[in-house]
Amino acid sequence: MNTPWSFASAGEIIFGTGTLARLGPLCSDRCWHRALLVSDANLAAAGVLDRACEVLKSSSIEVCTFTETEREPTVELAAAAIAAGTSFAPDVVIGLGGGSNIDLAKVVAAVLACGGEVGDYFGFDRLPRPTLPLVCMPTTGGTGSEVSHSAVLTDVAAEMKVSMQSRFLRPSVALIDPALAVSCPRQVTAESGIDALVHAIEAFTAIDAAEMPPGNAYSGRTPLTDALAEQAISLVGKYLVRAVEVADDLEAREGMATAALLAGMAFSNAGVAVVHALEYPLGGALHCSHGGGNGMLLPFVMRFNLQVRQETFARIAMLLGEQTTDFAPEDAAERAIVAVENLRGRIGIPGSIRQLGGRKNQLAAFAEKAFAVKRLMQVNPRPVTLADLKAILRSAF
Ligand SMILES: NC(=O)c1ccc[n+]([C@@H]2O[C@H](COP(=O)([O-])OP(=O)(O)OC[C@H]3O[C@@H](n4cnc5c(N)ncnc54)[C@H](O)[C@@H]3O)[C@@H](O)[C@H]2O)c1
Ligand SMILES: [Zn+2]
Repeated sequence: MNTPWSFASAGEIIFGTGTLARLGPLCSDRCWHRALLVSDANLAAAGVLDRACEVLKSSSIEVCTFTETEREPTVELAAAAIAAGTSFAPDVVIGLGGGSNIDLAKVVAAVLACGGEVGDYFGFDRLPRPTLPLVCMPTTGGTGSEVSHSAVLTDVAAEMKVSMQSRFLRPSVALIDPALAVSCPRQVTAESGIDALVHAIEAFTAIDAAEMPPGNAYSGRTPLTDALAEQAISLVGKYLVRAVEVADDLEAREGMATAALLAGMAFSNAGVAVVHALEYPLGGALHCSHGGGNGMLLPFVMRFNLQVRQETFARIAMLLGEQTTDFAPEDAAERAIVAVENLRGRIGIPGSIRQLGGRKNQLAAFAEKAFAVKRLMQVNPRPVTLADLKAILRSAF
């Protein structure tokens, strides 16, 4: 490929079991003395929030906690968190939790630095200046938000996910302590974990960087995103079922934390595509989790893309542990879809829109809303029409 490309991630990545202890020193070393810690009641109940507060306080950091965060946070909740942040005036914002808490922390850090309201910044490249410094600590093993340049909220009235992408949303530090996920519930581990697989597969099958129209939030696939996505797929194949089945299997938690990180680095550069576009209205209307919706949709979108990414699909099958030697190319590619369907079944992710509570008369509106998210449509390897989206949704119903 003879196309210029670039790559971005969090400013620094600190990874390893026990690294929570570094949170205090890393803040004081950077002269951050007032920390707004965005988390939620479940992390508090699991004792994770207290441990984070303790390590901060032992480094003489003043801490204010915002623990009202809910799953798939709404625009209204973001306004409440911003109000809490404004009165405390932090010099660092820490997101501790799954993608929901991390995204809320990002949005707060953005609005505290840039002023205005959260709605002013939806879309790509709308933040005029850097956010407050951000430290993001994932506790689920899936979203990769700790390194990504996006933050996702739910617009309740529009029944749609809304998001912002900006180079300034990449956290200053991603602090990844895989042991924090030991208390993560089984279903969240499954849903968040399959989201990492969706990120990796959508990045690995994205259009090439050379074909990406200018002005997109994503660059298309590059040799670096391919390398990251391949490794992430293989780690999900090896560790997701184990992490779901045995909560305190630390090796599996480390494997999934790594998979989520690598997939996050891959997708936040190469891009995500039709799976994510369809999940925006689906999640907005059915209130399923992001990972649950994505995991349900993945095999149906893969089937749509199969004809233009046969070789890549064969590679995905292999990375997921499928035996494809001596298979004809189309049969090897098909095994990738079968592998994803099997994995989805083993970890209890629903296999249809109906199972998520959707109705047939909602499908046309889902397709129209998804089709409007052009930046995601442009990443998809096979050109997509509105009729194609409707057909994919019918097959997934
Ligand atoms: N910004 C990005 O790049 C990006 C990427 C993917 C997804 N997302 C967003 O992330 C969100 C989904 O994040 P998620 O899958 O990590 O789940 P989540 O953050 O929604 O968490 C799900 C539930 O699990 C609980 N939980 C999480 N970790 C726990 C732990 N260790 N112990 C006990 N309980 C725990 C939480 O309290 C919450 O109730 C969605 O809003 C999605 O849109 C963002
Ligand atoms: Zn996702």
